[in-house]
Amino acid sequence: PALDAALNSLLTGEQPGVELITTLLSADAEQMPALFAAANGVRRLGVGEAVHLRAIVEFSNYCRKNCLYCGLRRDNKSLPRYRLTEQEIIEAVDNAAAMGFRTVVLQSGEDLYYTAANIARLIDRIKNKYDLAVTLSVGERGYADYKTWREAGADRYLLKQETVDEKLFQYLKPDSRLRERLQCLHWLKELGYQTGSGNMVGLPGQNPTTLAGDILFMRELEVEMAGIGPFLPHHDTPLKDAAPGGLELTLKTLAVARLCLPRAHLPATTALSTLTPGGRELALKSGANVIMPNLTPLHVRDKYLIYPQKSDIIEHPDRTLKNINKLLAELARPLAKDHGHACQITGR
Ligand code: 5AD
Ligand code: SF4
Repeated sequence: PALDAALNSLLTGEQPGVELITTLLSADAEQMPALFAAANGVRRLGVGEAVHLRAIVEFSNYCRKNCLYCGLRRDNKSLPRYRLTEQEIIEAVDNAAAMGFRTVVLQSGEDLYYTAANIARLIDRIKNKYDLAVTLSVGERGYADYKTWREAGADRYLLKQETVDEKLFQYLKPDSRLRERLQCLHWLKELGYQTGSGNMVGLPGQNPTTLAGDILFMRELEVEMAGIGPFLPHHDTPLKDAAPGGLELTLKTLAVARLCLPRAHLPATTALSTLTPGGRELALKSGANVIMPNLTPLHVRDKYLIYPQKSDIIEHPDRTLKNINKLLAELARPLAKDHGHACQITGR
């Protein structure tokens, strides 16, 4: 009954607060189907039936930071590091364009080897060559860098807040400051990027109130995208013995995020597929509308090891696309043909 009341008040336009969200997140096995169905309905009304694909190119696994949960952390000496050249990145983008992707996501650890000018040149080359939307995901940088890249033609930027719980953030990201990260997100919005944020579910020390804070934060910021996935422990990090995030809590968080962010693009994250084989399908039925296939060249793919991946995640892009087409046919969800820019309020 508490869950039905919470769902109803949200669906009739009430402003969500911490209590409403934690009520929804506490849905038990019996209540979950109703929560997921509501999220699926809001997804349909908010962003439609089409599923958008974004090709990810992970161009460097060097990172100056030491986040406790991440396999790319600088103290992980057992990870062989790589950097793709501009030409190699362009070749990966060539593949993405040839395969019909309309968005390419350029992602890396926080690697200052690539200067603002290097990345601007890359964006410029891609935008001149292809009708592709370009998303950057290279971490915290200064306003001037973000401005340079926006002027070079970058459309979107992904920078997950990871958690808005200040103590947890400080523990997990010892060389970042939550306030500075949020400042970056505000700059990105101000510069006109379609801005993506997101959080991990099931971090050690996290609780439902923390997760509610994350969802409310993303709503306040009016993020155009939100990546929500389970925390997965990596064997070469200080959190190697921590428990992974749960499937059900991750799906509930995704569903509640959809209810609170009707028009945002929400990916079925790779982390969720890694946690559970059917994770992608479950996410697409619980609010997600985006899939982000990996187009990183195969010779370095296994080195972008943020968290342990199953071998079937490291598959050839052609096979990935076949699997996606099959899944979407089963779900009767069309593949989007457009760039999948943020939905404008006036747009439909
Ligand atoms: N489990 C799940 N997601 C992770 N990320 C980093 N490490 C992990 C992990 N162990 C995610 C973070 C980050 C992105 C690079 O990958 O959300 O934003
Ligand atoms: Fe670097 Fe990002 Fe991993 Fe932190 S989460 S270590 S900033 S790649």
